[in-house]
Amino acid sequence: MRPHNLKTRIFLDGGNPDETKEIIKLLGFLDGQTTNPTLIAKTPGVREHLERGGRFTSEDIYNYYRDVVKKISALIPRGSVSIEVYADLSTKADEMLRQGREMFSWIPNAQIKFPASQEGLIAAEQAVKSGLRVNLTLCFTQEQAAAVYAATRGAKRGDVFVSPFIGRLDDRGENGMDLISNIVGMYRKGDGHVEVLTASVRNMDHLLYAIKLGSDIITVPFEILKEWGEKGLPMPGDDYRYDSKGLRTIPCKDSDLSKKWQDYDISHDLTVKGMENFSKDWNSLIGQPAGART
Ligand code: E4P
Repeated sequence: MRPHNLKTRIFLDGGNPDETKEIIKLLGFLDGQTTNPTLIAKTPGVREHLERGGRFTSEDIYNYYRDVVKKISALIPRGSVSIEVYADLSTKADEMLRQGREMFSWIPNAQIKFPASQEGLIAAEQAVKSGLRVNLTLCFTQEQAAAVYAATRGAKRGDVFVSPFIGRLDDRGENGMDLISNIVGMYRKGDGHVEVLTASVRNMDHLLYAIKLGSDIITVPFEILKEWGEKGLPMPGDDYRYDSKGLRTIPCKDSDLSKKWQDYDISHDLTVKGMENFSKDWNSLIGQPAGART
């Protein structure tokens, strides 16, 4: 059962509908799910097919992604399900938008993931104007989150998520949880139309501290949600303190939310690396490496 004082929405980070079922059974609720190309590439259906010597065409793998997402959506019809467009470093906004529109038609509760890059923001700006719900992924800075806010101004709450990736910052010695704290604080000065979705969660403390910081949503890998469920869904108390274990502080910037999104510096090497890796994982499933087509 959902703890009475839990305001944060809890999502599962994964691509396997069997895990979705198991988590709903264990927790008694689930508010949504996020998927990405790497997670889809790791699902048993894909692994077994490849182990039998099979290959996928671009079309096969998109059809597989659509089937997985449909199964997940049916398990959490009132939740939100994030589906990620294929975007390598050369993918233009128009192509991302084309894919996003197609994917949005797959299920009634889709949220389309675009990277927090230049082309991703152009696509997201157009997408919200045409009624799509979006999730700006691979966010590593407060400036990127400010740009997401500016690019989607006018959208209604629930239609726009931003996904700061904390684990990948931790991995290189920076305290990813500072980024959540900084963005949540910055957005308090805004109109509330963008929700913070804490992503790249690696341990139970990330989960507890994100709840404590008031993150709107957290997406959590199966094993960690399972651990949380088996421990009886513990909540961070007033005395909860996050131990950053010596990670470098990410300073809070006094960001102004009133600028045009193009006026923010949205560059970050981990966004570039993330796009490279997601597209590499996707292309590795396809006979011929190629820009995927829906
Ligand atoms: C979710 O939307 C993200 O794609 C995911 O949390 C990334 O996690 P990772 O950094 O462990 O790959």
